[in-house]
Amino acid sequence: MKKYILGMSSLAVLFTFSLNVWAEDSEHESEKAKNYTQATPVHSSMQGKKNYHKECSSCHMAYPANFLPARSWKALLNGLDKHFGENAELDAEDKRSILTYLDANASDHSHSRFAAWINRSISPNKTPLRITKTRYFDRLHDEVPTRFVSGNPKVRSFSNCIACHRGADQGDFDEDRVMIPGMKRWHD
Ligand code: HEC
Ligand code: HEC
Repeated sequence: MKKYILGMSSLAVLFTFSLNVWAEDSEHESEKAKNYTQATPVHSSMQGKKNYHKECSSCHMAYPANFLPARSWKALLNGLDKHFGENAELDAEDKRSILTYLDANASDHSHSRFAAWINRSISPNKTPLRITKTRYFDRLHDEVPTRFVSGNPKVRSFSNCIACHRGADQGDFDEDRVMIPGMKRWHD
């Protein structure tokens, strides 16, 4: 009986701990995070985030979830066997947990003004599979000369965010910290 009570209380501690981590980690406003934790078990989205960074960052950085709507992530995860010329297939359990995380943090499930702007730029009947093939991305990058991208062996393609946004894997895309390889300093 004593053992049982001990087990229960450490479980409770674990649960509050993961709830706190989720709240701090969340890109949502706290209200949204609260709604989300009610709808989905906390551990599954935490596991999903971990799996996402583990499974989706070996060939390129793990792109921030809020740069694409949920339907895009779903389509990407459902087509991993033919992923831009690569086979990136995962087992069903990993896929499910990754999708849970991406879905909850997708642009159309985020409340930031940036996410709202992204959503407005994507037609509701389109499901882009690339961040770099969206209108909002073009608008953010239309002043970047292609000789600094495709013509640049240190960049090669716009999909390589981290070549120019050095803090991209931490979610830092601030234009003040952009450094294009081979270009002195970016200024508008
Ligand atoms: C085996 C290598 C590999 C793995 C693993 C991989 N990808 Fe990719 N991914 C690619 C390649 C190659 C491209 C195309 C890059 C380019 O055009 O420069 C790409 C492109 C993308 C793009 C579009 C980038 C853009 O141009 O906007 C997204 C989104 C993406 N991957 C998501 C994922 C997700 C989600 C996972 C994990 C489930 C994943 N990738 C795992 C190889 C991979
Ligand atoms: C060749 C370099 C390069 C690559 C690669 C690149 N960017 Fe950028 N990005 C820029 C530059 C330069 C700006 C600033 C544009 C301006 O000031 O007009 C910018 C601006 C942005 C901004 C707006 C930042 C702000 O402070 O307003 C976002 C968001 C962004 N990029 C996201 C991405 C994402 C996501 C990727 C990868 C899918 C990516 N970028 C790839 C060069 C790059």
